[in-house]
Amino acid sequence: MSQTERLPRNRTYLMCPPEHFTVEYAINPWMDTSVAVDAALAVKQWRMLHETLTDLGHAVHVLDPQPGLPDMVYAANGAFSVDGTVYGARFRYPQRSAEALHHSVFYRNGPWTFVDPAQVNEGEGDFTYLSGAYGGMILAGHGFRTEPAAHVEAQEVLGRPVLSLKLVDPAFYHLDTALAVLDDRHITYYPEAFSPAAQRILAQLFPDAVIADREDAEAFGLNLVSDGRHVVLNAEAMNMADKLAAAGYQPIPVELSELKRGGGSVKCAVAELRPRLLAT
Ligand code: ARG
Repeated sequence: MSQTERLPRNRTYLMCPPEHFTVEYAINPWMDTSVAVDAALAVKQWRMLHETLTDLGHAVHVLDPQPGLPDMVYAANGAFSVDGTVYGARFRYPQRSAEALHHSVFYRNGPWTFVDPAQVNEGEGDFTYLSGAYGGMILAGHGFRTEPAAHVEAQEVLGRPVLSLKLVDPAFYHLDTALAVLDDRHITYYPEAFSPAAQRILAQLFPDAVIADREDAEAFGLNLVSDGRHVVLNAEAMNMADKLAAAGYQPIPVELSELKRGGGSVKCAVAELRPRLLAT
């Protein structure tokens, strides 16, 4: 990747505190119901993440956590928005399905056009957006949670091209565990998490991507939030931080050991809200 200056842009995010966080069911290989989580520590770490984002100048909305929905802290999964339109989530597993309603209420009460999905999809867990590529382009994962049919539906709802990418490694079951958008045009990803065809397509479209290895991905180093310059990522992912710094970004490590027990990290805990673009 060329060494140009990386410019930050102010963002709007949505998060949900892990007040009711537990690991009482296992729907991904990271979840171990036999190990107790430290909910107080999870809340403390979450607050640090929240503060890190607000200190960077970003607006962070907070959703009320609900008892009985221990995974609600992974707010990324609740919906996916582009240019003021919100494509709602429909969770794969019944344990999480009620989360979608809480997210939809948030959007319906705000300046958003909310669209209920017919297809199973887990919001920003499996959808991400590159605003500067081809006038706006969606990258979407399938293979574990989101149905390919949801990619077609998202394209119709959001009016942006959707590039479907097949995930093949159960450890990286959501797109946001294997690929991240760094700025309007650039991504980072772990190739082996994708099918050979998807790897070829990613190499073709993003020849200057920051390439992560298995160790980076296992440290949840790809589960990051970037504002175009500052890249907030799991503190364990030290090699990933070095790679991002070498590409001109400024890594900001945060401790999120408890959220990792549920199979997530920074990005899973943060949904980016993309409001309507003002006509120029
Ligand atoms: N325990 C949650 C699940 O399996 C973790 C979700 C992580 N979120 C994410 N965006 N990758 O659904």
